[in-house]
Amino acid sequence: RPHLSLHAMDGLVMEEVPLARIAAEVGTPAWVYSAGALRRRARALKDALSGAGLDATIHFAMKCNDNLSVLRVLAAEGLGADVVSEGELRIARAAGIPASAIVFSGVGKTVSEITHAIEQDIFQINAESAEEIDMISAIAAGLGRTARVALRVNPDVDAKTHAKITTGKSENKFGVAISDAVAIYARMAALPGIEPIGIATHIGSQITAGMSAYRAAYARLAETIRELRARGLPVQRVDCGGGLGIPYRDEPAPSPEALAGAIKATLGDLGLPVMLEPGRWIAGPAGVLLASVVLQKQGAAHRFVVVDAAMNDLVRPAMYEAWHGIVPVGAARAASPLSAAEVVGPVCETGDTFARGRMLPVLAQGDAVAFLDAGAYGAVMSSTYNARPLAPEVLVDGARYAVVRERQTHDALLHGQRVPEWLAP
Ligand code: LLP
Repeated sequence: RPHLSLHAMDGLVMEEVPLARIAAEVGTPAWVYSAGALRRRARALKDALSGAGLDATIHFAMKCNDNLSVLRVLAAEGLGADVVSEGELRIARAAGIPASAIVFSGVGKTVSEITHAIEQDIFQINAESAEEIDMISAIAAGLGRTARVALRVNPDVDAKTHAKITTGKSENKFGVAISDAVAIYARMAALPGIEPIGIATHIGSQITAGMSAYRAAYARLAETIRELRARGLPVQRVDCGGGLGIPYRDEPAPSPEALAGAIKATLGDLGLPVMLEPGRWIAGPAGVLLASVVLQKQGAAHRFVVVDAAMNDLVRPAMYEAWHGIVPVGAARAASPLSAAEVVGPVCETGDTFARGRMLPVLAQGDAVAFLDAGAYGAVMSSTYNARPLAPEVLVDGARYAVVRERQTHDALLHGQRVPEWLAP
């Protein structure tokens, strides 16, 4: 994380901005992203793909971070978007990502979402079932348009990641069985309103177990593509999905070069342009969640550090037993002796626990801490549970920073609620 450094005077600094300054000026909890890290990571991925001799485009999986300014930084690096809803599609367009760089994934796109995508003439729709293909065909034909559709296949490989985020096994809801892919693709070619454009897959997220699952999946894709070609069915590109994992703790994680190498080795000799849909690898390490210590209490069994962020802000520990590094922001704290602590939020359930038995220095009320690697699946998964306003988002760029999404107000929590007149006082 070269965008984060510890200074003797300023404590934890992102690029050139002390996080203590942001905590003081913006308040906590707050999400903070490094524009420099986003750029560097986008470039590292591009370089890995071109270094392997691949003709590739990157479509940022904006489900992991849909902040407009984050998207603008990535769009300026030439990245497109992978969207999963009309909402994401509209945000991508608002961020200046051209429709011609947008791919739409998801098992349950509605009629109105498909209609919107076709009207916008996006780059590609990834269809996940024969039933959806019929829907797309009917909608496109009704509009007098042709949709470019890739078929998402489920290669039945085990990505060896958390059960809640694995997607490429046959029992998962995603894609069509690879054994049915040729027949369904042939049907796509025969339907009105559809241009079959290629094959797509995505086998899971936070993949750290090396390249074997990727290789197995891509090898099956290559086989399918050869069979399609042998039957005279055109395949113009292949979408390799996302899923590249990051080291949250110290776990070994594969490099973009390894992924590019796996793609080259399995799909390279087909001579097709490839697409990638990474999310977490780009945005995860680029962001932190800043929180402040509300109080420390000594329980019967543990020392509890209660912070002002909670599971409604960062849900990953509660939802996936995920581990996030926790670093005191102040310089003085970082140097003091460590002891085990339970780091918890104020929400009224035990699941609102960020870390158990975490070795942390002595902390005082008001001390800021940073939850690391919170740039992906952080703010986007937050809620207002316990009527807690959504935390603001901040972008750091060199020596500058800006609040790029305001803290939600308490008034906003009442927005849109109506009490029927028979309940009025
Ligand atoms: N493409 C498709 C079709 C996907 O479903 C996903 C993620 C991606 C790309 C991007 O995957 P990534 O490169 O970010 O791993 N909320 C969970 C992760 C859910 C991932 C869902 N799909 C978490 O916090 O770990």
